[in-house]
Amino acid sequence: MTLDSQSVLRAKDVRKTFVIPGGELEVLRGLNFSIREGVSASIRGESGSGKSTLLHLFAGLEGVDQGEISWGPDSINHWSPRKRAAERAVRLGLVFQAYHLVGEMTALENVLLAARIAGTVSAETRERARHLLDRVGLGNREKQMPGKMSGGERQRVAVARAILNNPPILLADEPTGNLDEKTGETTMELLLELVREQGVALVLVTHSRRFAGACDEQWVLHDGILEASAEA
Ligand SMILES: Nc1ncnc2c1ncn2[C@@H]1O[C@H](COP(=O)(O)OP(=O)(O)OP(=O)(O)O)[C@@H](O)[C@H]1O
Ligand SMILES: [Mg+2]
Repeated sequence: MTLDSQSVLRAKDVRKTFVIPGGELEVLRGLNFSIREGVSASIRGESGSGKSTLLHLFAGLEGVDQGEISWGPDSINHWSPRKRAAERAVRLGLVFQAYHLVGEMTALENVLLAARIAGTVSAETRERARHLLDRVGLGNREKQMPGKMSGGERQRVAVARAILNNPPILLADEPTGNLDEKTGETTMELLLELVREQGVALVLVTHSRRFAGACDEQWVLHDGILEASAEA
């Protein structure tokens, strides 16, 4: 088997330019990346270097200008927004800095949302949602509304939700960015533990050298391409 056939996510010669007042901003300039099953990779880079843009392209939330994004063997470039959304629901977990929980739903319903979108709610997924909430230390909070939870607790609900469908890929954009140092640390440890346990490939955008160092591979986004981190 070639390396490529094992990759769960791949970017080939990706270019992305934004039109800004007074001109164009070339954010990604022929970027290449590939990650294999169950591997964790961190991406660091200065503010504005294009990390969130890259994750949006990986997730198919935005389209590339040039180049190709593939999930497993499939290029997503020419998928319709509808097809992308349907595939994303089963193949990708997303965790953002700002949690993105639904305020009107309990913790358990928020976790189950991933299965609702994927159309896979069953007694079994309910059981798995409960198990994951328990696993992130919130087993006794399943009926609680996010508005009454702390930042760290909300992010743990978001992590459980992202992993519910057992996706091959988890994309996390500064998941501890809104948390204090101690809470950030425990949340990150839990995230890394969970992805290892579940065999999920993780792409982690972080400013923290320490969290980056806990990943199998370390990259820095600089001048529109990914470079292997000198500290790896
Ligand atoms: N939709 C858009 N239109 C115009 N410019 C954009 C758009 N999205 C992002 N940019 C610009 O592209 C650059 C990269 O933004 P991006 O959010 O990817 O950076 P980042 O590396 O995630 O930064 P941070 O560490 O601050 O989160 C920035 O200069 C930003 O202003
Ligand atoms: Mg960002």
